Amino acid sequence: MSRFISIAIDGPSGAGKSTMAHRLGKEFGFLHVDTGAMYRAVGLAAMRAGVDKSDKAAVEAMLPSLDVRAELSENGQATYLNGEDVSLAIRENAVSAYASAVSAYPAVRAFLLELQRETAATQNVIMDGRDIATVVLPNADIKIYLTASVESRAARRYEELTQRGQSVDAETVKKEIEARDLADSTREIAPLKRHPEAELADTSWLSFEEGYALLKKIVSEGLSRVL
Ligand code: DC
Repeated sequence: MSRFISIAIDGPSGAGKSTMAHRLGKEFGFLHVDTGAMYRAVGLAAMRAGVDKSDKAAVEAMLPSLDVRAELSENGQATYLNGEDVSLAIRENAVSAYASAVSAYPAVRAFLLELQRETAATQNVIMDGRDIATVVLPNADIKIYLTASVESRAARRYEELTQRGQSVDAETVKKEIEARDLADSTREIAPLKRHPEAELADTSWLSFEEGYALLKKIVSEGLSRVL
């Protein structure tokens, strides 16, 4: 019986999961699925509709009218919200807090979980998020926990936002990351935590290329075990 291989990458905000997973996906021929982008699409919908992000019932009531889809494009994953390509809009800094808030609601997680599992059932995937190894794909063949210190994640995020022309303050970016770490790891449902089998990759002191080389080694070794 043939089956598909899955690689799970979890970790806190700003650890570089999506960028790394995207490149690994290309290198090893796996579809990269960025689950954070899906939560961001739901957060964006709430923001645009003027829904209070702390109003769980109001956020949940929006779900039946939402169609979130992730498709492969030339530049990686393109994320669609009710048919509109929102790949750029979901990256705006203001959307992050909405995504984090809505991701704590059980109905939002159930809504996206189905989509995530369906995707992994039909192809080889490298999926990144917070709960991929612990909840979404507990049988993932390779599990990685990618992290870095708050300081280095904040510095990278600040650079990324300013390069994109968004005007932000470094200290605020750090505080936002700390707030998201706290919210993501203390929520009741599917909190961010390292799966006991996940290989720890801490890139605090590594350059991007060094971090990538570490992940590539973990994936190559993992694949030689399962193939
Ligand atoms: O990785 P990101 O910053 O794009 O994720 C946005 C938010 O979505 C983040 O605050 C936590 C949430 N998230 C989640 O709860 N579970 C996932 N699998 C992925 C993201």
